[in-house]
Amino acid sequence: MRTRPLKVALLGCGVVGSEVARIMTTHADDLTARIGAPVELAGVAVRRPSKVRAGIDPALVTTDATALVKRGDIDVVVEVIGGIEPARTLITTAFEHGASVVSANKALIAQDGAALHATAEQHGRDLYYEAAVAGAIPLIRPLRESLAGDKVNRVLGIVNGTTNFILDKMDSTGAGYQEALDEATALGYAEADPTADVEGFDAAAKAAILAGIAFHTRVRLDDVYREGMADVTAADFASAKRMGCTIKLLAICERAADGGSVTARVHPAMIPLSHPLASVREAYNAVFVEAEAAGQLMFYGPGAGGAPTASAVLGDLVAVCRNKLGEATGPGDSAYTQLPVSPMGEVVTRYHISLDVADKPGVLAQVATVFAEHGVSIDTVRQTGKDGEASLVVVTHRAPDAALSGTVEALRRLDTVRGVASIMRVEGE
Ligand code: NDP
Ligand code: HSE
Repeated sequence: MRTRPLKVALLGCGVVGSEVARIMTTHADDLTARIGAPVELAGVAVRRPSKVRAGIDPALVTTDATALVKRGDIDVVVEVIGGIEPARTLITTAFEHGASVVSANKALIAQDGAALHATAEQHGRDLYYEAAVAGAIPLIRPLRESLAGDKVNRVLGIVNGTTNFILDKMDSTGAGYQEALDEATALGYAEADPTADVEGFDAAAKAAILAGIAFHTRVRLDDVYREGMADVTAADFASAKRMGCTIKLLAICERAADGGSVTARVHPAMIPLSHPLASVREAYNAVFVEAEAAGQLMFYGPGAGGAPTASAVLGDLVAVCRNKLGEATGPGDSAYTQLPVSPMGEVVTRYHISLDVADKPGVLAQVATVFAEHGVSIDTVRQTGKDGEASLVVVTHRAPDAALSGTVEALRRLDTVRGVASIMRVEGE
């Protein structure tokens, strides 16, 4: 057992960072035994130094994060500031000055993961970020290490706790979107500005990271098709219920059937109530991984929150410290397949389309013709009408997304179609 401690610099001491510091202190003996050396909190960088931080020695607190990562005696930098800058520059500087890095920063990893991995490799350091996707749930390491001998074909999951909480409330209580969002905010799930969650940016960053690791290729944030969930209505949930479905914001990463490309997308979708993801309630996350030899694997647990996220950070910290003591580095970036990312139009899926139409002879035939002209096969049609107007709900068989969206555009141009009330993909069957 080495007695000289490994030194850890903590960048950020907010929701996640304060829990990282707490666990480092309360579990110090266990961490020492598991790593083979003590770990010492050597500095804590924050924005507001005068804020009282329980359990943190005020002498460790600094606003000069750059000086902290440049000290030269730091073994591991834990970055839990978030955002792109200054986090990116601080991580790069840490690598240059001898430290490995553990981060929870999905926005940064999704945007600049490749460059950061390259810098880490150049300097012989580790870059770990288990906490960046689905909080406490072990997902990055299982994909990168446990499944390294298998071929992953699909990753399908709920990777944003805030939006799952909102959709679950809308489904279970009939609450409207704004009411459910207000409750999520009051309970501390949603950010003061919930845009990244409800518009799907947070889930898209996670999808980019997952797709890149699962398929050993490069998937950038811009490659991920993204739709938020702010337009999901109580009427959509009523429609979903009639089909034996519920609605979830899903991140879906797929290898094409011919193996020659991949897709990554985030959007609300109807899934059957019998699907395991349908029963993921409140702010929980769950991810399905389908691999050639392993079959279907499901990972489930808390996807957000200080302590759960800190658990993942601490797991990485232990791994990186062990690597450091063994004078080794863990698995780095793997993008050797160089598979192209196909556009959303090539994704094959099903649509649930709700139309307001004139209730008169020939309308159904006109609508059906538009579907046929776009090569989209109809699975079911349901019509309810009153006073010369009708609501028509069409569920399609599987077709390329481009054909489905072309169908909807053509439907909008029909005089007899008063409006397209909602369009939603149907997944998980
Ligand atoms: P917080 O906003 O709670 O904490 C951010 C911390 O960073 C604060 O301590 C803040 O200081 C500090 N900080 C901000 N800017 C600077 C700066 N320029 N220099 C030094 N310190 C700075 O964020 P979270 O803890 O919620 O999130 C941290 C990271 O973890 C993000 O990348 C997030 O995406 C990720 N994450 C968060 C999860 C969650 O449930 N919260 C779940 C999974 C990942 P001060 O305290 O003085 O304001
Ligand atoms: N805002 C994110 C969520 C935090 O709600 O899932 C975890 O990444």
